[in-house]
Amino acid sequence: MTVKLDTIVSLCKRRGFLFQSSEIYGGMTACYDYGPIGVELKRNVRDAWWRAMVQERDDIEGIECSILMHPEVWRASGHVENFTDPLIDCKSCKARFRADHVPNYRANYRVTATDEGGGKVEGLEVELGGEVPSDRIRPGFEADGRKLGQVEKIEFLGASVGCPTCGNKELTEPRLFNLLFRTHVGPIQDSASTVFLRPETAQGMFVNFENVRATMRRKLPFGIAQVGRSFRNEITTRAFVFRTLEFEQMEMEYFCKDGTDDEWYRHWVSERFNWYLRYGIQRENLRLRKHGDDELAHYSKRCYDVEYNFPMGWGELEGIAHRGCYDLTQHMECSGKDLKYFDQESGEHITPVVIEPAAGVDRAALTFLIDAYHEETVLDRPRVVLRLHPALAPIKVAVLPLIKKRVEIVEICRNLTADLKARWRAMYDDTAAIGKLYRRQDEIGTPFCVTVDVDSLEDHKATVRDRDTMSQDRVELDRMVEFLDDKVVLSPPKIEEAVDI
Ligand code: GAP
Repeated sequence: MTVKLDTIVSLCKRRGFLFQSSEIYGGMTACYDYGPIGVELKRNVRDAWWRAMVQERDDIEGIECSILMHPEVWRASGHVENFTDPLIDCKSCKARFRADHVPNYRANYRVTATDEGGGKVEGLEVELGGEVPSDRIRPGFEADGRKLGQVEKIEFLGASVGCPTCGNKELTEPRLFNLLFRTHVGPIQDSASTVFLRPETAQGMFVNFENVRATMRRKLPFGIAQVGRSFRNEITTRAFVFRTLEFEQMEMEYFCKDGTDDEWYRHWVSERFNWYLRYGIQRENLRLRKHGDDELAHYSKRCYDVEYNFPMGWGELEGIAHRGCYDLTQHMECSGKDLKYFDQESGEHITPVVIEPAAGVDRAALTFLIDAYHEETVLDRPRVVLRLHPALAPIKVAVLPLIKKRVEIVEICRNLTADLKARWRAMYDDTAAIGKLYRRQDEIGTPFCVTVDVDSLEDHKATVRDRDTMSQDRVELDRMVEFLDDKVVLSPPKIEEAVDI
């Protein structure tokens, strides 16, 4: 079913998944706090990723790096110079946008330059998309059948569309805006003390390549994985936790030999696409999209996005980039340290090629929520149910007493909850009538509810209700953990749908 984003936002607030950050002060734009239920979902997403990427494999090591790194890391990686977005402002309502995010945005420029032969080019009109003109209109740029030499002047003539907020036609020309957050180490705030909040976790893996290789005695190919917070001073934050200023990433850098990279690239696109299916995302809501040359990040030779059909349209869920030798080469050059790998087979020192699957924990959690959301009518009554995979469900089992005034029933419930808690996040709830308790658990995606009733006192059994089918099983209390253990599968079978890239 198609669900509106507002419906998800309201469910998240109502059921304790996510709250606006600093809400009592009016909120902090594009920052969110995970509530008691949301924090469990997020943990489960992270754990499912770690299981697939580290625990279930024998060619990947995990690490955890600090958020603050030596500032030279970000000069070497190219982020200080190139991690930019094209920013435009509306002169009327002052709203800000990323030019490349404004639908149908085209901008016109008048260019004065020389051509390749040194002849004067005047009044040349050029139309561009959302990019910054000085980035594109350079020596070698082709327009009107001529190749440009030196560019003297680029005048902005106007944009094809109005402001997406107020409709006014007066938009400024795109200018570059660097997304790095800066802060200072120590008491003096000058350029020497400037450090950056990391915009990606990836660089931690590159600068530790040799540490991990040597300490774990690794041979190519092998990967280094990390889950951690990243920060970006995003211009347009939108769509709830889809794009925020701080977020968590799950990234893995796979180091391999040149010549084996195509095969590994296909492997990782397939692995990552199928991971979402394995944890229950509906096939029709998932697709792969190849990046055009003009979209590629400054380090990337090739990139496919795993995209999801969000309520606001298809959007990136995860990117799988071919980073070539870019990062290790840059770090060798800037640090002066040798990060080459000695290949015993060829007897040569080589720079490994890197394939990088990079996902967002928050964006994945949002996706699992949206995809799991269902509204249905059962016995003429509406029901909202999150059909989350049991591995991702925040609460795996809720134990509910049918009559909370009977101390013997409550005691059985408490003991059972304690047994279940030893394995999973389980909860006891007696704060409403049974119908309402079921509805609450359905809305947070709890796959199983166990109800203890008067008969339980006699037959030592309880009723297990399945969230999706609403079927009920009468199960012996002594066998309850074993019964549920078969159903709460944390590591579902792998799916190997062939990907077409
Ligand atoms: N190291 C490569 C890299 O960082 P990216 O495509 O910029 O690549 C990877 O980011 C993933 O991180 C994205 O697919 C998305 O899931 C998540 N992500 C990136 N920026 C984000 C933001 N501002 N808010 C939430 N998630 C974000």
